[in-house]
Amino acid sequence: VDHLLGIKYLNEKDIELIFKTADHFKEVINRPIKKVPSLRDITIANLFFENSTRTRLSFELAEKRLSADVVNFSAASSSVKKGETLIDTVNNILSMKVDMVVMRHPNPGAGIFLSRHVKASIINAGDGAHEHPTQALLDSYSIRERLGAVAGKKVVIVGDILHSRVALSNIFALKLQGAEVKVCGPKTLLPKHIESLGVNVETDLKKALEWCDVANMLRVQNERMDISYFPSTREYAQQFQLNKKMLESLNKEIVVMHPGPINRGVEITSDVADAENAIILNQVQNGVAVRMAVIYLLASKINR
Ligand code: CP
Repeated sequence: VDHLLGIKYLNEKDIELIFKTADHFKEVINRPIKKVPSLRDITIANLFFENSTRTRLSFELAEKRLSADVVNFSAASSSVKKGETLIDTVNNILSMKVDMVVMRHPNPGAGIFLSRHVKASIINAGDGAHEHPTQALLDSYSIRERLGAVAGKKVVIVGDILHSRVALSNIFALKLQGAEVKVCGPKTLLPKHIESLGVNVETDLKKALEWCDVANMLRVQNERMDISYFPSTREYAQQFQLNKKMLESLNKEIVVMHPGPINRGVEITSDVADAENAIILNQVQNGVAVRMAVIYLLASKINR
């Protein structure tokens, strides 16, 4: 069975194929009838053990636009609360003839673990602070759409790199496609050996922005940290907030990205988040086509 567990397991050709397929589906979902009948014989379960707005709705729309049957599971209202294990939960769902599982889970490696214990194709929709592969794919797809290519582009990822699955998956995806990557944030929120992934560290936001073509602004993940070692929100905003004054101090235009959810007034101000060179809602829009591509390509490997 094939899975999408992380960008770490993909190569450049895989990403190219996903993007070509997504180009086709992007055209499909801009038609008056936004659906194709491709996956009428496939049933997909969306399992969310952690909160989500974008990823959950985006996967559900992608599945429905491929004509798959869809069931949604939220841990908060399930028998997980009565002590049922992850494997038992998933095997019970699979016994109802489910072919593919999309899972978000707070534990790093949860998708990898599941893929070893159940007979279904697994898509990782975010596993703790580990990977969020479809987010990185839609981010690169959106850079490619806005700037024509990812290769050779200079991308800075700003913020809480330490706790960010978006950062790790983006680093893998961008490096695979030949982009130059820097990370920027307070030292307390940078992993110790981040340079071993082939990225440079810059702790001065202005210098990082002067260098880049694209700035991907991340939310500080308070829910994943011991609050005592984090700079205060006020200190963080003073040093790492992307605001209009900072943007106007640069001698060029840059593309501004954010995976969402945004904490307006912390990592980014509203005027910047809503400006023309911010592609935040384009990222969300592209997420549906990219997820359609991932699901379609994985489904083509299921015996049916
Ligand atoms: N970007 C992202 O994963 O958003 P959600 O947590 O709302 O799914």
